Amino acid sequence: MTQNFIPQNSEYKISSVEVTASCPSNIALIKYWGKYEGQIPANPSISYTLNHCHTITKIEFFADEPFSVQTFLAGKEEVKFAEKIEKYFKNIELYLPWILKGKYIIKTENTFPHSSGIASSASGFGAIAKCLMDFDDIFSNGIEKEFKTKKASFLARLGSGSACRSLYDGLVVWGETDEVMGSSDLFAVQYPNEKIHPVFKNFNDWVLLIHEGQKTVSSTVGHGLMDANPYAERRFQEARENFVPMKEILKTGDLQKFIQLVEHEALTLHAMMMMSEPAFILMKTGTMEVINKIWNFRKETNLPLFFTLDAGANVHLLFPNNGQENEIKSYIESELLQHTQNGGVVKDVMRF
Ligand code: PMV
Repeated sequence: MTQNFIPQNSEYKISSVEVTASCPSNIALIKYWGKYEGQIPANPSISYTLNHCHTITKIEFFADEPFSVQTFLAGKEEVKFAEKIEKYFKNIELYLPWILKGKYIIKTENTFPHSSGIASSASGFGAIAKCLMDFDDIFSNGIEKEFKTKKASFLARLGSGSACRSLYDGLVVWGETDEVMGSSDLFAVQYPNEKIHPVFKNFNDWVLLIHEGQKTVSSTVGHGLMDANPYAERRFQEARENFVPMKEILKTGDLQKFIQLVEHEALTLHAMMMMSEPAFILMKTGTMEVINKIWNFRKETNLPLFFTLDAGANVHLLFPNNGQENEIKSYIESELLQHTQNGGVVKDVMRF
């Protein structure tokens, strides 16, 4: 299958050019946690693509200069990031044979705070992969649009797994499952729009910035710890099984079941961290306080406010725009913001 992404006798005419691309972040509903050799996910996942949180990347390519990479994050040179990208470019040479034949200056910016813990690696690698496919398009004299996005998703995956889902809008699936036609371990596919109830197409994600510092355990290390986790196999199986009810929920618009499934997925992700060896906990006191408040709020009001979590302490507050959102928003402002480190909240919506 990867064969499809290896160019067959392509003639490249490389030149010094500059391209710019932007790519949104995404938040998983059924989570990817655990992987095999070559960035193959241990289970399928599905995410919402965000609208405002994105990365804008400009890459200048200087043809026929010795291979080197220089990177700037929000105007500041980042040597560590450049080393990571150099390694990544070497890793994908098989798929882009021209990639080591020049020098790169990469300037990248996020529309969300760097310290927020919002998956900048997803939007970051998504934007770089888009730029690379723009170069490929220019150097090879045209690539078919659908294939270009698919290959960008394939390349983004090799940088950061969940990044492959950021190449598409709406609900996006990565990882092979019988429940979604065309799904693959190698790239993401868009979940069919006509199989999604309208209630899920107009959704908010407000990210409460509970903790703005560095995570104590990176997601690379976290994925790795799943290899020896005695509960891993059951977890992978459960995630696969969760696609069956998810498909039905998305079709029928059953918000109650959606809430149950999405919160269960988030807590399972963190339970896996606690059952790793060594164990680690990324949630903070504020995370727990917010979760308990959300549960109480739902019990008292029956309003559809719920949460999901990434590999970090911040809480993604999810709620639909279904006529009850103003009440939910006032509750968040008056009761939940106080649990953030600096009053920080990133107000986003899902991109459809
Ligand atoms: O793509 P990575 O390696 O940053 O892993 C992301 C893992 C989660 O965000 C926790 C879940 C997911 O599916 O995005």
